[in-house]
Amino acid sequence: MLNSKTEIFCILGNPIAHSLSPQMHNAGFQALNLNCIFVAFLVTNLKEALAGIKAIRNIKGIVVTVPFKQKVLKYIDFLDITAKDIGAVNAISIKNSKLSGINTDWTGAIEALEEKTNITGKNVAVIGAGGAAHAISYGLVKKRAKVIVLNRTYKKASLMAKKFNLDGFYNLEHQSKIKSMDIIINTTSVGMEPDTHMSPIHENNILPHHIVFDIIYTPHETKLIKIAKKKGAKVIHGYKMVLYGGKRIFESFTGKKAPIKIMEKVLINNLYPSYSGL
Ligand code: ATR
Repeated sequence: MLNSKTEIFCILGNPIAHSLSPQMHNAGFQALNLNCIFVAFLVTNLKEALAGIKAIRNIKGIVVTVPFKQKVLKYIDFLDITAKDIGAVNAISIKNSKLSGINTDWTGAIEALEEKTNITGKNVAVIGAGGAAHAISYGLVKKRAKVIVLNRTYKKASLMAKKFNLDGFYNLEHQSKIKSMDIIINTTSVGMEPDTHMSPIHENNILPHHIVFDIIYTPHETKLIKIAKKKGAKVIHGYKMVLYGGKRIFESFTGKKAPIKIMEKVLINNLYPSYSGL
C-alpha cells in the first residue's frame, strides 16, 4: 500500500519507454513487502532533474541509463572506485541530499558469466569498444581473465586496451583471432532488433569449445547465439546481464537480498511474452 512513507526509486534516461527497471524492481519490492515504488522518468535536463530529486527527501535511489551514464559523473558526491575506473555510473543512492554513485554493468556481466564458467585465467575476446565493452572489460581484468578486444574502429580498440591493460586489440576484420579464445562476448549492437539476421562474428570462427555471451537481449536469441548453439558452443543470453545488474542495484538500494527468481520471471514475461523456457 503506497502512503506518505513510501520510498521512491527511479530511472533517468532519454528515451525511457523501453526500460524494464520499473517492472523488475517493483516485483522485487512487492515480493519482500517493502513500502517502496520504482518509476521511470524521461529526462530532458539532467542537472535540473538531479537538483529536483535532491530536494525531494523520499527519493532514495536513482538508476541512470542512456545517454547519462557518463554525463552524471560530475554531479556525484561520492564515487565508488569501480565507477571511477570505468568512467560511468549507472546507480546512485541518495542520503541527506548527497549522491553516491556505483557501476553495476560490470557486475551484471560478470555474474552472468560466472553462472556458466570460471573466469580467472580464461582467454576472453570482447567484441566492441563502447560503453558496455568498457564496463565488461574492467570486470574481466578484475577477475584476472586474459582479454583481447576486437572492434570495427581500430583506434577505439587500442584506447580501450591501453586503458585496461588488455592483452591485445584488433580490427574486427581479424576475427579469426577468436578461435583460440575460451569466451566470446558481443557488446556491439550488431544483431539487435530490427537487424536480427546479422552477426558480428562469422560462423567459421565459432567453435564447440567456446562460451558465447551476447549482451543483446532483443531478440532473446540473436543470430550469434543461434550460430553458437548450432556449433555446439555454450551460450549466455543478454537478459542475464540486465537481471544481474538489476540484482546488485536492488540490493544496494534496499540492503536486502534480491528475489532473483521473481525478478527474472518478470523480466522474461515482459521481454518475451511467448517464451516458456523458465
Ligand atoms: P554501448 O554503450 O551499448 O556499448 P556504444 O558506446 O555506442 O554503445 O558502442 C557501440 C559499439 O558497437 C562500438 O564498439 C561500435 O563500433 P565502433 O567503435 O566502430 O563504432 C559497435 N558497432 C555498432 N554498430 C556496428 C556495426 N554495424 N558493425 C560493427 N560494430 C558496430
